[in-house]
Amino acid sequence: MTDSSAQEQAITPTANASANVEVDNSYENDSAYGDELSSYSASLTSSVLDYRHENGRRYHKFRDGSYLLPNDETESDRLDMLHEMFLTLLHGKLYLAPIERPQRVIDLATGTGLWAIDFADENPQAEVIGCDLSPIQPTMVPPNVKFLVDDIESEWVYERNPFDFIHARFLAVSIRDFGRLIKQCYRSVKPGGWVEFQDWDGNPYSEDDSLEGTGLQRYYDEIHGAFAKAGYDVCPGPKLEQWFKEAGFVNIHVEKFVIPYGVWPKDPYLKKVGAWCQIQGEASGFEGAALAALTRYKQWSKEEVILLASQARADGRKRDIHSLFDFYVVYGQRPENQPRWNLGQASS
Ligand SMILES: C[S@@+](CC[C@H](N)C(=O)[O-])C[C@H]1O[C@@H](n2cnc3c(N)ncnc32)[C@H](O)[C@@H]1O
Repeated sequence: MTDSSAQEQAITPTANASANVEVDNSYENDSAYGDELSSYSASLTSSVLDYRHENGRRYHKFRDGSYLLPNDETESDRLDMLHEMFLTLLHGKLYLAPIERPQRVIDLATGTGLWAIDFADENPQAEVIGCDLSPIQPTMVPPNVKFLVDDIESEWVYERNPFDFIHARFLAVSIRDFGRLIKQCYRSVKPGGWVEFQDWDGNPYSEDDSLEGTGLQRYYDEIHGAFAKAGYDVCPGPKLEQWFKEAGFVNIHVEKFVIPYGVWPKDPYLKKVGAWCQIQGEASGFEGAALAALTRYKQWSKEEVILLASQARADGRKRDIHSLFDFYVVYGQRPENQPRWNLGQASS
């Protein structure tokens, strides 16, 4: 894998994506998931108060307006639930890249920082940085992790002190120019080092057309329109491989997973992933993702957004709506001897 002459590898077999996700029709067996949905607890709180407040939610201050989801405690709780969902999805793994004892690591747009904290715990030899627009990470953290407030779409200063591993998870609806960001990663990872992005195809679908015409489908259609108007990519997952190739990475691997919404799948693993997905949706996820996008960019009222979100949430609880998302894990290696043409400007 470290052979600099190696070419991008073929797409690996899909990790959990099956053509048909079987529906669990035995409704009475789901009490554990009912408990799970109602018994989550917050693990982190935020500590900096000078933020924008709008429609009952709190938003980041640094680079005001450049990220459209809240940064309040409700949203932090939701990000922590999503962390559990992603861990379940990847069978307990934080990453899939074949890294070995990395010394310098960065987690881009770290959110509440749980990925960085877990990674630092698992890798005490590593110095781990988590950066984000919002300082919403805990202060009691392992000694080998530190958090920075930074805008990852600005020019980076890391090239003189590059990383062994750069990780980014769930940047959909955050980033305007993924191609440029991934080129920044290429320049800021050591020759032979790895970069891994984990991200959504934000378009939900159903294999039996049960999503058609529902409040869930309408919700995603409306918010995707608003995010597109604001200039954000809501479906980076399927495009990551191409961006990695364009940046110059080799040994590129793509793994595709499916994430159900709800506990309708029969398979226990998919049911658990789907439960976490529903838990985060129930935790004000629908309102949180929609409020700023639709009020700032489509001139909706707060009440209209809340109605849209409540209809999505209600349909999400229906066992006969079998909604799925695709989720991609893509990693690639900077060649040991990188060609000179890859060392141009970030925008090239
Ligand atoms: C959906 S959250 C994902 C958080 C984390 N990566 C995870 O998987 O739990 C997106 C995060 O990206 C951050 N973000 C958005 N735009 C950013 C930017 N330009 N620079 C740094 N962070 C950004 C937000 O503040 C938010 O915490």
